[in-house]
Amino acid sequence: MQAYTVLADPEAVAQAAADLVEERIRARIEAAGVCHVGLPGGTTPARCLELLSRKPLPWQAVHWYLGDERCYPAGHADRNDTMIQQRLWSRIAAPEPNRHPIPAELGADRAAEIYSGLIERIGVLDIAVLGMGEDGHTASLFPGNAATESPLPVVPVHDAPKPPSDRVSLGLGTLQAARQRIVLVTGSNKHEALLQVQQGIPLPVSRIGQSHWFVDRAAADVK
Ligand code: 6PG
Repeated sequence: MQAYTVLADPEAVAQAAADLVEERIRARIEAAGVCHVGLPGGTTPARCLELLSRKPLPWQAVHWYLGDERCYPAGHADRNDTMIQQRLWSRIAAPEPNRHPIPAELGADRAAEIYSGLIERIGVLDIAVLGMGEDGHTASLFPGNAATESPLPVVPVHDAPKPPSDRVSLGLGTLQAARQRIVLVTGSNKHEALLQVQQGIPLPVSRIGQSHWFVDRAAADVK
């Protein structure tokens, strides 16, 4: 059973999600002394990451991973880690060793191989923060794409329908194994996919397992 929190607008979604991420990071650090967090790309999470950066957390105990990365050169404006650097890492002065970008500039296959080793070394993510595309993709696991069915911890993605066609993504099993999943969805353009998730249609984002969804009224089509 998924947990949905429907909020008035994107700002309320960003705030509520940032509050839950803070709570979970704090709990995990108290329990284990460290917290491994997977971060999403795209536009939806940007404000949430900004608000998270203002939280008084022991950042030196938090390690950051990417849910997926686009195969562009390092530093490219459209990379997910560029957005994360701007909205979060630069604002908390996240220690370099705690930032684990996906080396997607090496190409999807090599980058997935390298990042698989990293993910296997940490075991499981404590928190996976994710978005959802209009087709129900999450990270870079797209409907009908072979990468979505791969058992690898981190998968090369080719022929992605959302540019760029070459990407790297945490595998479905890695997302399913995370201790907590948080999905952010805003905008009326996501309503159709959200309906399908609620109807149990096995879109990639439906298959990641029990998650806490933060959804705005536009996506939930609540007047
Ligand atoms: C990416 C993201 C992708 C994103 C969804 C939603 O690389 O594009 O990882 O999975 O989360 O496509 O994107 P928006 O938040 O921009 O709608």
